[in-house]
Parts: sequence; structure tokens; C-alpha cells
Amino acid sequence: MIPPKPQARNGNVSLRRYAKLLRKDILSALPDRLYRAKMAEFRMPFIRSFLLNEPHLVRHVLTECPSRYPKSTRVARGLRPLLGQSVFLTNGALWQKQRRIIDPAFAEAGLKASLPAMQAAAQAAEKRFQTLAGPAVQIDALASHAAADVIFRTLFSRPISDTIAAETYAAFRSYQRLQPVLSPRAFLPFGPGRAARREAEKIRRLITMMVQERVKDIANDCAPDDLATRILQARDPQTDAHLSETEMVDQVAIFFLAGHETSAAALAWALYLLAVAPEWQDRVATDARRRVTEVSDLGSLRDTRDVVRETLRLYPPVPMMVRQAAARTEFRKRAVPCGSQLIISPWHLHRHKDLWPEPDRFDPTRWRRAGGCPNRSAYLPFSAGPRICPGAGFAMAEVTVLLTALLRDWRVYPVDRPVPVAHLTLRSQDGIRLRIEPRNKAVTKAQSEWETAQ
Ligand code: HEM
Repeated sequence: MIPPKPQARNGNVSLRRYAKLLRKDILSALPDRLYRAKMAEFRMPFIRSFLLNEPHLVRHVLTECPSRYPKSTRVARGLRPLLGQSVFLTNGALWQKQRRIIDPAFAEAGLKASLPAMQAAAQAAEKRFQTLAGPAVQIDALASHAAADVIFRTLFSRPISDTIAAETYAAFRSYQRLQPVLSPRAFLPFGPGRAARREAEKIRRLITMMVQERVKDIANDCAPDDLATRILQARDPQTDAHLSETEMVDQVAIFFLAGHETSAAALAWALYLLAVAPEWQDRVATDARRRVTEVSDLGSLRDTRDVVRETLRLYPPVPMMVRQAAARTEFRKRAVPCGSQLIISPWHLHRHKDLWPEPDRFDPTRWRRAGGCPNRSAYLPFSAGPRICPGAGFAMAEVTVLLTALLRDWRVYPVDRPVPVAHLTLRSQDGIRLRIEPRNKAVTKAQSEWETAQ
């Protein structure tokens, strides 16, 4: 089964046309040859960018010499109103200090302690699933609600309310559209416009309120022992300093946003892929009958784990990452000036024709075959090196728990073919629409018609 992939551009276009195409959607604007290229250079006025598409170059930048290639300050500018000086955006000594403070807090709050929050959020999501059975539904909002609920319970020991879930989903979606961090505009020296800043303020207001409430609870000695309390109380093991209130808001904001938007995208694409691969949906439903009481039990849900890995390959929630050359260098005998933008694209690497057999095919069995994953640096859903996603294990567990809870007693059917678009995260242009039916109900007329049409 070959799931949707945007038609890439064929042939050359003028700079003006190219800029226009890029503004619309980066995946279809980039040329088809990138699915085979080792590297590509893009020259725009004032800015040189290089797409690095070869595992050893990627490893060099992310893992071997990360300090020579810090996060792009141009991309950071686009995210600043939302994420402030959060660990996702900072570089150098400030980033190191933040990770020294946050890492133990996240490790102590731990995956083990988070499993009940994931399971409770999954049960609540399954209840909402029930109410949506029948007509076509947008699955993205439901996936975002479920993932936001998981991280809210982990951070603040309480479920997210329907209103907050809907408001943050809408505000983040609108921010991504107003301030596409992967567009040429993002590389220009202006920050986000007023409309984007307004959306960011809505999300920041919520986080600030939650942090201030929690600071009071800590002072009154009645704060629950959860991730937010641990982040707010954590101290730098080297200097004993703790985070200022603004830094606290920034760090809680990144955990809330990075901790749900990406998992939500993964969950929505996984549900779509399973809708068009019903035999895999049955396997996930079988996994869902196994008892999971410990995190280690998740290891026995092998089919679901392979579905999640394959989803992250075909639809990496972070489709591109941007670094900046801190000094002049050379890649593949080509000069790379200081300040060049270096794009690492999991989207292209995961579908590279010389790296993967049948790269566009949805085939979870590849993860069981020798050589199924050709090269660790060709599979980067969570990045690599010191800036690898600290939530990778959490996210794998979370998506597995949510998928199995939703598909245990329910079936999903496709309604149309979504069109992937790369904003900060990889979403579908008009959302993903599915129909939900109880598992025991016979295949409906609409499903057989859809299958015939394929
Ligand atoms: C399927 C879900 C997820 C995916 C695909 C994902 C992917 C990524 C990627 C690719 C990066 C690196 C970005 C870059 O280098 O430019 C990253 C960073 C990060 N992620 Fe995740 N992530 C996921 C879930 C989570 C969760 C659940 C959390 C927290 C609970 C989290 C917290 C973070 C943080 C704090 C960073 C910044 C790390 C740093 O720069 O030091 N992520 N994530």
C-alpha cells in the first residue's frame, strides 16, 4: 500500500516562482531529485542553504560536531514568541545549563510514573471516540486532544479541559500557518507578524497561569509530585541555581508543546495508515487485548510498535530540522559559508530511493527484516546526537497506548486521501478525515466503495 506523498516539482523554475511554491508548501516545491540526492544547495538572496541527505553528513552535523552546527537563529526567531528561551531554541552554555536542570526532572518523573497518565488519557480519548462513531470526522483534533491530555496529566496531574484542548489546538494550528518556520519568509530578518504573536500569546497565557498556580502550591507545600513541580524545583547541579519564572514558563511551554503536537501528528497519521491497511488494524486490535501494567509490557505489542516506527518513517512529525554553520566549512567538496542554513530532512532521508527498499510503501514488516532499517542515520524521527528528543521513549509508549486503546473495539475507515504538508510539524493540508465504527459491525457500503475505488 502506497500512502499519500505530495507530487514533487519536476524540472527547474525561476527564483520568483520557486519562492511562491515554497510559500504554499515546501514538500511539493522541492525537486523530485532530492529523493535520490546526497546533498543539494539552494541559493536565495542573502541566504545560502544546503540540504544534507547523506547519513554520514547528517551524523557529522548532529552527532560528531554538534557545537559547530548550532540550531538556526533564523528559525528560532520564528518560534521565539511561543517558546521564548526554551531548551528547544537555545544554544551553547545556556542550552547546557537548561538541560542540566531539566534532564533529571524529566528522568525522575519518568516513563514508569507516566504510564497511568497515558492510560487514563487513552480511556478518556476512547470515550470521545464512541461519541464520534458514524459520520466522517476530523481525526487531527481528536488526536491533539488525546496527546495534550497525556502531557497535561504528566505535567500537572490533571486532565486537560475540553475548552483548553480545543483552544490550544486551534491556536497552535493557526500559529503554524501564519508563521511557517520552513518557508523563505522564516529566513528573512523579521519576526512573526502580529496575528501569529496573538496566537502565541493565547498559549503562553495558559502556561503562565498554570506555572503561577503551581509556584503558589509549592510555596504552600501542597503541590503534587509531577513533572511541573520537578521542573520548577530543579536546581543546576553545578551552580545550585534554579530557573527564573520566565525560564520556568519557557521550559513548561516546550514540554507542553513539543510533548503533544508531535505525538498528535504521529497518532493521526498512524490512524490514517491503519484505516487504509485493515489487516494491520486487526493486528493492533489483537495487541490491544494484551495486559499492560508496566512499561516493559509494551515491548510485547510488537505489531503496534512496528506500525508506530513505520508511521514515523513515512510521516516524521518533525519533517525538517535546521542548523547553522558557525564557521566556513566544506561538504562534498563544496564551500559552505559561515551562517549557511543546513537542512536535515527526515522526510527526504526516510524516503530516499538509494537507502530504503520500496521507500514509499507502508510496510511495518521491514522493521523485522535484517537490513530493514538500512542505517541509523537514515532514520531520524527523534533527531540524533546531544539534541536528540528527550521525549522519544515517552512518545513511543504514548502513541502505542493511545492506538491500542482506540482500536481495541473500534475500526477506522478512510474517507479521502489527505495531502501531507510540512509546517513545523507534518500535518495534512485539510486535516485527516476518517469514519469510526464498532469493530463487530459489518464492513459498510462506504468502505467497500472506497476500497473498490482504490
Ligand atoms: C512522536 C513524538 C515526538 C517526535 C517525533 C519528536 C521529535 C523531536 C525532534 C526531531 C527533536 C529535535 C529537533 C531539532 O533538533 O531541531 C525534538 C526535540 C525535543 N523534544 Fe521531541 N518529539 C516527540 C515527542 C516529544 C515528547 C513527548 C516530549 C516531552 C515530553 C518531547 C520533548 C522534546 C524537547 C524538550 C526537545 C528539545 C531538546 C533539545 O533541543 O535539547 N518530544 N523532538
